[in-house]
Amino acid sequence: MYQTNRGYALCSLKRIQKVFSCQNRLNPINRSFSQNSWLYKQKLTVEEELVIPERHRKSKVPKTVEEVAKEYSKFYENYYGSTRWPQLFNSLKAPSRYSCLMNKYSSIDEKLSIPDSFKELNLEKFPFKSLDCFQISNDLGGYSFPRPEKNDSTGLLTHYLLDAGSVLATEALDVQPGEHILDMCASPGGKSLCILQRMGGIIGGHLTCNEPSATRRKTLGRVMAEYIPKNFGVEITITGEEGWKFLYFGLDRYDKVLVDAPCSSDRHILHDASELKLWTPSRTKNLAKRQFALLQSALKVVKPGGIIVYSTCTLSELENDEIIERTLKKSKVPFEVIHEDWSFGEKTKHGWICLPDTANGFGPLYFAKLKKLE
Ligand SMILES: C[S@@+](CC[C@H](N)C(=O)[O-])C[C@H]1O[C@@H](n2cnc3c(N)ncnc32)[C@H](O)[C@@H]1O
Repeated sequence: MYQTNRGYALCSLKRIQKVFSCQNRLNPINRSFSQNSWLYKQKLTVEEELVIPERHRKSKVPKTVEEVAKEYSKFYENYYGSTRWPQLFNSLKAPSRYSCLMNKYSSIDEKLSIPDSFKELNLEKFPFKSLDCFQISNDLGGYSFPRPEKNDSTGLLTHYLLDAGSVLATEALDVQPGEHILDMCASPGGKSLCILQRMGGIIGGHLTCNEPSATRRKTLGRVMAEYIPKNFGVEITITGEEGWKFLYFGLDRYDKVLVDAPCSSDRHILHDASELKLWTPSRTKNLAKRQFALLQSALKVVKPGGIIVYSTCTLSELENDEIIERTLKKSKVPFEVIHEDWSFGEKTKHGWICLPDTANGFGPLYFAKLKKLE
């Protein structure tokens, strides 16, 4: 009965709930019905139909973390294949690997000064343009760099630790001094700092760092205060809007937009059982809807000829190349995808991805570079 008439039953139930709520609104005192009334009969019919046989009832027992982990692995094995997935999974489970972004504004003359505490480290410089970023060449993961220190003369922190893939994504923005850039999803501010390292030296330029969460916006403000001088030549504005709303504040305004979208954050959830327990395949689909809206907004607010970098720290194809694919199919704003090769990571259909099994422990970090057509 449940299986064959389920559609009818749910439909009738909805109709009855509507009538009930209507009745209750109109006459809140009289909430009972005569046993002969049509409503009473209908209610009985529906309740009878909704007696669900035991074998069809959905289990209310929450899944164990082991069950979710199994489902998670199956989901990604379908995409990465049974040969690559186990090695990729193990590399994601390994401790996160950090690179070290040196803060050129922490010293008075804006020259690279490596703290004394780094002397024993086997540092290797990344070939990034216009900023100084290092990895420890024999590091197998974990927090191996010393904690940032305040420079005696400026009071600003000496360095910031982040995934090297994040620095690479900002390299794709090709930041030039004097530009007006929007970092649409900015907290805690690692990528904003990378952008600012490339903007200094010349008076002018504007970075808008946006973060809708009040708590995370506070962190963003603290990071800016700890790393960037007060009398900095580049204007920095911190805003708290939903990224998709930017299109209502004016079109064609920014030279560049970074959309570092909220995403499934796979490495983070694999290191936290309570987060992993919340994972479902539909979560990645819901995030994809949000990411698509953010990218639409970015396309509208960037100037014609301007660049957008869309990035995530997830493995999910739905949140990476699929977003670009959908945008190519549906966007009313004309744009092209720019394909470039980068110093580490691998090519995808529309962008580039750093995955820890092949990117020396860094990642996941996906990005795609789009250019709005004139
Ligand atoms: C991946 S994190 C950004 C990391 C940051 N770019 C960095 O490098 O330090 C994504 C951020 O987007 C924010 N966010 C969530 N929903 C948003 C929305 N609708 N519009 C803009 N940002 C959003 C989250 O609060 C989160 O801080």
